[in-house]
This record gives sequence, structure tokens and C-alpha cells, in this order.
Amino acid sequence: MTRRVAILISGGGSNMVRLVESMAGDHPARPVLVLSNRPGAGGLARAEALGVPTAVVDHTRFPDRESFEAALDAALAPARPDILCLAGFMRVLSEGFVGRWAGRILNIHPSLLPKYRGLDTHARALAAGDEAHGCTVHEVTAALDDGPILGQARVPVEPDDTPGTLATRVLAAEHRLYPAVLRRFAAGDTTPVRLP
Ligand code: GAR
Repeated sequence: MTRRVAILISGGGSNMVRLVESMAGDHPARPVLVLSNRPGAGGLARAEALGVPTAVVDHTRFPDRESFEAALDAALAPARPDILCLAGFMRVLSEGFVGRWAGRILNIHPSLLPKYRGLDTHARALAAGDEAHGCTVHEVTAALDDGPILGQARVPVEPDDTPGTLATRVLAAEHRLYPAVLRRFAAGDTTPVRLP
């Protein structure tokens, strides 16, 4: 049975594009919606250009997380997604929301979890003198950047790296990792993907 995938974004959506492009041919899933919490997110136009329906739920228009998430649920429901992929979605989701979607939400995070949950992961890896850095796709649970790991990709840290150069190298790894994990997950296999 083909799995229906909604992708949640806040920004440019480069991971979203890679996920959408990957869901073709014999892939066990198809994209049904790209949803942004930011009306100006660059990823919205990219999704439309790829022929994927889009929706916006602007978090600034809601007084609290509960009402924002009720609107998220209402926007997602007509698309009947089986799987939610967070792809640069920069809102923390409540225990209630995550509980409703338990086992069906994935997130990509730009570090080798459990290292560097939260923000500024590239600067933190450089400050720590790490020789390797990378990205993780994990199932979303109520704890921030936690949950069972579904895949990781490592990249080397070069001596002259800045947070920007390191972010570019990690993002390229994200673009390989997330589609590989989604394909496996949508087929019912949660064995972690290890790249390269
Ligand atoms: C990606 O690097 C993703 O890992 C990160 O935001 C970027 C989104 O880029 N996500 C987080 O930091 C979540 N905590 P994109 O919009 O081009 O896919």
C-alpha cells in the first residue's frame, strides 16, 4: 500500500525537494502535502513547482501552542497523511501532538545525535574540536531532538571549516540521508541507515 507523506517546513525546503523527488517509481510513498508555518517560506514555491499541494499555518496568528497545533491537525487532515516528515520545521511540537502521530513522524537534525540537540550545531561541533560531524534522521518524541535513530551520515570536519562551510557539507549529506531513510521507513523497515 502506498504511504501518504506530508512534509513540514519553515524555510528554503531543500530537504523537502529531495524527499519529493525521491518519491517516484517503485518508491513505497508519495508526497501529498507540503505545509509551512511561515507564509514566506521559500520551500512553498518549490513545492508548487513540483506539483505538490501546499498549506500554511502561520504560528504567529495563534495565541498558544495548543491552538496552533489544532490548526495544524485541521490542515493535515484532508491530505490523510500516513507519515509526517519534518524538514527544517523550526517549531517544537507538544507531547499531545506528537502522541497523536506516534511512530509516524520523522525529523532531520544537523548533528550526530545525541550530540548537539537544539540550535547552532555546526558552531558547537567546531568549538568542541570534533573531527567528524553530520546529521541524523530520527523518530520524533516529546523530548527535543530525541527519539529512535533511523539513520545517520557522517562528514569530516576540515581544519579551515567555518560554521557555514560545515553546514554546506552537512546539508549535502542530509540530502542523501533523508530520502534513504524515508524509503526504508515507508516500507516498514526501521533498521538505521548508516552513510556513507
Ligand atoms: C536543515 O539543515 C535541517 O537539518 C535543519 O534546518 C535545515 C533546513 O534546510 N533543521 C533543524 O535545525 C531542526 N532542528 P532546508 O529548509 O533547506 O531543508
